[in-house]
Amino acid sequence: MTNIELVGRVLSSLPADDDHPYRTGAWAPQVTEWDAPDLELVEGAIPTDLDGIYLRNTENPVAPSIGRYHPFDGDAMVHVVGFHDGKAFYRNRFVRTEGLLAEQEAGHALWAGISERPSKAIREDGWGARGRMKDSSSTDVVVHAGVAITSFYQCGDMYRLDPLTLDDLGKSTWHGQFPSDIGVSAHPKVDERTGEMLFFNYGTDAPYMHYGVVDADDRLVHYVDIELPGPRLPHDMAYTENYAILNDLPLFWDPDILKKGGHASRFRPDLPTRLGVIPRRGQSSEIRWFEADPTYVLHWSNAYEDGDEIVLEGYFQDNPEPSVPPESSYYQRLSRFLSLDGMQTRLHRWRLNMRTGATTEERLSESLSEFPMLNPDYIGRPHRYTYATTGVPGFFLFDGLLKHDGTTGNEEHYSFGDGVFGSETAMAPRIGSTAEDDGYLITLTTDVGNDRSECLIFSAADITLGPIARLRLPERISSGTHSTWASGDSLPNWPSAS
Ligand SMILES: [Fe+2]
Repeated sequence: MTNIELVGRVLSSLPADDDHPYRTGAWAPQVTEWDAPDLELVEGAIPTDLDGIYLRNTENPVAPSIGRYHPFDGDAMVHVVGFHDGKAFYRNRFVRTEGLLAEQEAGHALWAGISERPSKAIREDGWGARGRMKDSSSTDVVVHAGVAITSFYQCGDMYRLDPLTLDDLGKSTWHGQFPSDIGVSAHPKVDERTGEMLFFNYGTDAPYMHYGVVDADDRLVHYVDIELPGPRLPHDMAYTENYAILNDLPLFWDPDILKKGGHASRFRPDLPTRLGVIPRRGQSSEIRWFEADPTYVLHWSNAYEDGDEIVLEGYFQDNPEPSVPPESSYYQRLSRFLSLDGMQTRLHRWRLNMRTGATTEERLSESLSEFPMLNPDYIGRPHRYTYATTGVPGFFLFDGLLKHDGTTGNEEHYSFGDGVFGSETAMAPRIGSTAEDDGYLITLTTDVGNDRSECLIFSAADITLGPIARLRLPERISSGTHSTWASGDSLPNWPSAS
């Protein structure tokens, strides 16, 4: 390939014969950073009405873990693919978190990961809802106020990157109001209409959750206690035009083990799912809780208002605490909470009646899928189409795409093919888009057999046609969790769309 520049490298002390299933294959960490101003087109053509950036966060551990390694412990690397005038550029950069820099200086890991007791950490300090963890900032990425922001699912700092150059812009301070004592959870929600970023955090001390709003000027303008019955493990939130939706789900750390310093997630089918609806600038006392069938929901796909009802959609888990045979290996036990077939994740709809307080719910699909993406113009409003990923059985990798039509119930599938795995797939509306699925789906793949990665572009109107363009990345990338799309007109310093 031509026109590619290697611009950085982070020293890795992982052994060459590493055999951890989440540090090899599609999860083999990448240590190099590249600039590619004009990506090589392998097949098809880049649409000239695709204009903006796809950002993806990935897991790239660079030091042997203290004890057991979990894929969510890996250090963050962000990839950006930008599309403009039928061309595409690419960059990737590590997120140089405080934790990564400290471990690089020490030459070894300083914190134990999520599969180990926090007391195994060398450092006394740290981040995370359970404490003494490294905030690797490797879970999520959003764009707020023209800046790319990464975050960590166990709560931590927010790291700011220039969305085009991926230059390090330091941590979010919110003009001195950032809640550094608890941090912020992954899955803050950016409302493109108002420019606001809605967020939550959680921890092991009462009130166990907070909810807040950061305005378009990056100022914390709202922050309230959300009182829960005890420590909980929320992962995501949703919002409508007027409300934020938080949750108290019956899967959380066993309180007795927690008292002894251990962290074991237990599903409590004797407890209801509780969904909390609060006006977007509402006080703690204004939250209204709705009860529903017990489950755990990793990701919500959307929420919107429909008369007296708040409609919430997401992935109901039939089996939030999958069991494995007693003789199972650590790796098999690890994957039980990571595979979609283990948890049995299916698209689901809850209707919360604000007048009567009643909840009704229904399954929308029999397909196992997760990691939903919508046309961003429809977030918080009624939508028709949900784009999601399908998973490899018994493991955490995405082997294909699924498009769900909420009006007809029809579904389209696309499989990446043997040994090829994709990323959470963003929907990018076409410039001049005239329909909800008038746009493109973007994903990054890792082809294990051929040791290479590509960026695929699909027509959102018909994913069964396969990619309309394939672009080769400079190097095979590692897998990860979340991604986002930002249109060119939302970005500072973006060349104006023609
Ligand atoms: Fe997530």
